[in-house]
Amino acid sequence: MLKKINVVLKEKSYPIIIGYKLFNQDCILRYFKKKKKYIIITNNTLLNLCTKHFYKYLKKNNIYVDIIYISDGESYKSLHEVNNIITQLLNKDYGRDTILIAFGGGVIGDLTGFIASIYQRGIEFIQVPTTLLSQVDASVGGKTGVNHNLGKNMIGSFWQPKYVFIDLFFLSSLPKKEFLSGFSEVIKYAIIFDKKFFYWIKSNSCKLKKLDKNALLYCIYKCCKLKAKIISLDEKETSCRALLNLGHTYGHAIESYMNYNNILHGEAVSIGIVLALQTAQVLGILKKNISEKIILLLKFFNLPVLPPKNMPILSYILYMKKDKKNILGKIRLVLPSNIGIVKIYDNISQKIIISAIEKTLKKY
Ligand code: GLY
Repeated sequence: MLKKINVVLKEKSYPIIIGYKLFNQDCILRYFKKKKKYIIITNNTLLNLCTKHFYKYLKKNNIYVDIIYISDGESYKSLHEVNNIITQLLNKDYGRDTILIAFGGGVIGDLTGFIASIYQRGIEFIQVPTTLLSQVDASVGGKTGVNHNLGKNMIGSFWQPKYVFIDLFFLSSLPKKEFLSGFSEVIKYAIIFDKKFFYWIKSNSCKLKKLDKNALLYCIYKCCKLKAKIISLDEKETSCRALLNLGHTYGHAIESYMNYNNILHGEAVSIGIVLALQTAQVLGILKKNISEKIILLLKFFNLPVLPPKNMPILSYILYMKKDKKNILGKIRLVLPSNIGIVKIYDNISQKIIISAIEKTLKKY
């Protein structure tokens, strides 16, 4: 039960290793060197899980390992926390032979990767994603960064990990809501690239919800395979990688408006996908019955499909105008015209966006 995918990026290529209880297996040891220092960055919620399994595994095998942990939550994905961790690394005289390990979800992965990219002009890092969302998306592709009050992920870099270790075992420790929120990214991959995968998710949805190992292994493998291909073609999002932002432009606006509190990234992406579907309907490029099929699948995974009731429409516009994909200040959106067919649409007018939000709000 071990699968491997290579992200092909010349000298920056790396493997993604997927399996169950990876850190019980001797074959994983060859990725860790006795001459290096490994510093795990995690959060207080995951500390116990990390110490009991991953940390213990490295320690038992005589690998130098230390842990730094921060508080749990998206609001800690900040420059303040970057400075705090760098201070701890410097206080312990960790040099360029140090390898950081992100043990956690998207927040820990993005933060750790960003620190690795700037610490002493750049050091190596490893991703050990523990949430479904980070296993299928955030841990692969080298997007790192932190949030700014004026927008999500506005400070960051492209810095590829050395390895990505995806252990299904960690998923069983997640709160159900957090686990299920990852399915918005899974469904996103199916809408963008693969109709057959969409129907596979639909037929296996009960197994996936119940954490069936074989179903999850295939699901995660499939998403990582799709992502690896895109990253190999467009590492720095100058072309096709931007398609992966389906649902994220609206989603990021919602997260920013809510100050990254009381909403999980996956939940915001789910609402963002629904708003993108409605936008495509307003533009007349997507049929209502296709949109309904997708919304039904999102709902099956208990994902929210309605925007926050009290978020002013003007706030969407303000945040969306700051989106990194925009060119010359014009709002660009990834929109589907069918399952498996999406395109970037330039210069979407505010009128269209307002109409899509209003129509979705009417469903309350
Ligand atoms: N999460 C989208 C990307 O990595 O490009």
